[in-house]
Amino acid sequence: MAYMKVRLLCISLVILGALCLYFSTYNLTPFKEGPFVFKKNHGNFLQLPDIDCGQNPPFLVLLVTSSQEQTVARMAIRHTWGQEKIVRGKRIKTLFLLGTTPSKDVSRAVAQESQQHRDIIQKDFLDVYFNLTLKTLMGLEWVYHFCPQAAFVMKTDSDMFVNVYYLTELLLKKNKTSRFFTGFLKRNDSPIRQKYSKWFVSKYEYPWDKYPPFCSGTGYVFSGDVASQVYNVSDSVPFLKLEDVFVGLCLAKLKIRLEELHSEQTFFPGGLRFSTCRFKKIVACHFIKPQDMLIYWHAVESSLEEECPAV
Ligand SMILES: *[C@@H]1O[C@H](CO)[C@@H](O)[C@H](O)[C@H]1NC(C)=O
Ligand SMILES: *[C@@H]1O[C@H](CO)[C@@H](O)[C@H](O)[C@H]1NC(C)=O
Ligand SMILES: *[C@@H]1O[C@H](CO)[C@@H](O)[C@H](O)[C@H]1NC(C)=O
Repeated sequence: MAYMKVRLLCISLVILGALCLYFSTYNLTPFKEGPFVFKKNHGNFLQLPDIDCGQNPPFLVLLVTSSQEQTVARMAIRHTWGQEKIVRGKRIKTLFLLGTTPSKDVSRAVAQESQQHRDIIQKDFLDVYFNLTLKTLMGLEWVYHFCPQAAFVMKTDSDMFVNVYYLTELLLKKNKTSRFFTGFLKRNDSPIRQKYSKWFVSKYEYPWDKYPPFCSGTGYVFSGDVASQVYNVSDSVPFLKLEDVFVGLCLAKLKIRLEELHSEQTFFPGGLRFSTCRFKKIVACHFIKPQDMLIYWHAVESSLEEECPAV
């Protein structure tokens, strides 16, 4: 009798254990309610830039995320590194990525700005920080549909200084024209789980402990084919509001490896103190105010032919 009781107890314990194990793994299974997935071809473009890539393919298209109100920053960029120009015989074109705002006045101003400058790409999504992934994907969708001829694309922000001269020089030197992706590499980042951080990501949004390799969203550069390929897989990768990590997930799926553009650091997501000689040998620097942009750009551009002391 006692033996039977022990046996029964053992069996119950095993079943209980199995149930525990089942429910614990069940809870850990990512996206059990189905991941939120980006929908391709969602809505029309509200504003399109004036550029015919088929007729006159650009070497480099710079896609700049900026918010509705950053008119001054956009003007500073148009007057500096965003000016359409030919560098080493290669055409470079800068375009701005925008969403929409509920404010009628601001919307009207943006539509007017777009009519005037013809350099705005816009779709109908709320222009807020956590829609940055939608904004980036809009840029890639635009390349996919309207400008697959672009040899290279850079995605960057409106508070960045971009040395298009040095970038062009390095891209030509690198001579890698497909499946190429570069920027400030982050190979080993983990999700931030502190609730009050700007970059907080819950275990529900992203259950794993490590991010795939990605490049800082402040500025990354890729060959034109990558735009279409990332856009192509974007609806089969779990959506993440951190656009740079999301692009990293797409690249992992495509098995595209991130590469350094140069043996020296050229992307500065944390900023860098200005000096003319320093900025002549960088690609991108963060935290630049519009008024400084004009000063720095002028200093760099007017000293292109001058030699700098070797460091
Ligand atoms: C992003 O845009 C969509 C479409 O306009 C909107 O429904 C959503 O609330 C926005 N996301 C955030 C975080 O505000
Ligand atoms: C660039 O690479 C191609 C092959 O991918 C090669 O044929 C060409 O010579 C290279 N050009 C330079 C300037 O290195
Ligand atoms: C997009 O993906 C499909 C299938 O997954 C593939 O056949 C097609 O070539 C891809 N297109 C691009 C531009 O990568």
